[in-house]
Amino acid sequence: MTTVDLPLLPLGHGRDLSAERGVECPGDLPPASDPDLVARAQAAKEALGDRVFVLGHHYQRDEVIQFADVTGDSFKLAREAAARPEAEYIVFCGVHFMAESADILTGPGQQVVLPDLAAGCSMADMARLAQVEDAWDALTEAGIADSVVPVTYMNSSADIKAFCGRNGGAVCTSSNADVALEWAFEQKPDAKVLFLPDQHLGRNTAILKMGMTLEDCVVWDPRQPNGGLTADQLRDARMILWKGHCSVHGRFSPDVVDDLRATIPGVQVLVHPECQHEVVLKADLVGSTEFIIKTIEAAPAGSSWAIGTELNLVKRLAADHPDKHIAFLDKTVCYCSTMNRIDLPHLVWALESLVGGTVVNRIEVDPETEAQAKVALQRMLDLPGRSHKD
Ligand code: 13P
Ligand code: SF4
Repeated sequence: MTTVDLPLLPLGHGRDLSAERGVECPGDLPPASDPDLVARAQAAKEALGDRVFVLGHHYQRDEVIQFADVTGDSFKLAREAAARPEAEYIVFCGVHFMAESADILTGPGQQVVLPDLAAGCSMADMARLAQVEDAWDALTEAGIADSVVPVTYMNSSADIKAFCGRNGGAVCTSSNADVALEWAFEQKPDAKVLFLPDQHLGRNTAILKMGMTLEDCVVWDPRQPNGGLTADQLRDARMILWKGHCSVHGRFSPDVVDDLRATIPGVQVLVHPECQHEVVLKADLVGSTEFIIKTIEAAPAGSSWAIGTELNLVKRLAADHPDKHIAFLDKTVCYCSTMNRIDLPHLVWALESLVGGTVVNRIEVDPETEAQAKVALQRMLDLPGRSHKD
């Protein structure tokens, strides 16, 4: 038999080493078929005791969530980490921008670990610092940068938060975006907001909570010269929405809302504000992950719900509330693929490495970025009323 050296590499493996960074686990990952994974995770956690604190985002797999010391949305988890200065290691079961935020809000003696470095966020990746700086230059050239306040969703990289910090802006979450926008519009006469990176959260908040219209909003496309906008369009706009979206929440469509209303009598549609405006307009209730959980907890037995958010959370809500009818707002199964990168083998590997004295996959924000990002985060914390999600 002769063998042929095929030039093909699986998934382009080895072609772009910097883009592939973090895709492979740098250590010995236990096989997913290992029947002792649960016992190994338990043993490693016990061995580490109070030195480790495991955070689990609501969209994580059940196999991982069972080991979380606390579950929550991204902001609540970062605050929980900051409230545990005794924990030397924060193991973040979530995605990269969340681990960065935890590193920014925790003390210098605490190290944040992301069990799989490939757990990024496609939405956060849609706003790169160089692109945002180019946009800012264009706003300066159009003569409006002085009246623009940048506001970034928590779901953005640390350097975008730092950009907002050094340019008079703030961070927001999906439950305080309206308060953050009110604050932003008070910062300058005739203020405009550059909202990063989720156009849907920005548009939904501007229109449904701030009384603006679609005409008040323009979309800045970083792949088009001058964002695809004329200087007049920029000058007339109140909200400049970055062309970014969540690939999970962006899947929900208005026709599925209609279908479910036709097939499930009395169903109430509950969606996250990262969904498209057309979906949010058809929903009964809109709110953050924590709002969705609290709404289902408070709902009467026998009530019917169609929920538009990540599937791990919807399945967990359905399992925890067997007395309520809970449906997923999509015809096809869709998990957040990067959230799902964190599985039990990666968690076991991260915890056992810590037991062995090796900190793997540490997420560390450089001091200058951290200081500027903290300014933007602090402006959010200082907002009146609902300044966070819990
Ligand atoms: P929260 O964690 O802020 O609810 O955001 C939802 C989300 O998409 C997280 O990635
Ligand atoms: Fe990013 Fe959306 Fe996944 Fe959240 S659900 S991590 S916003 S891609």
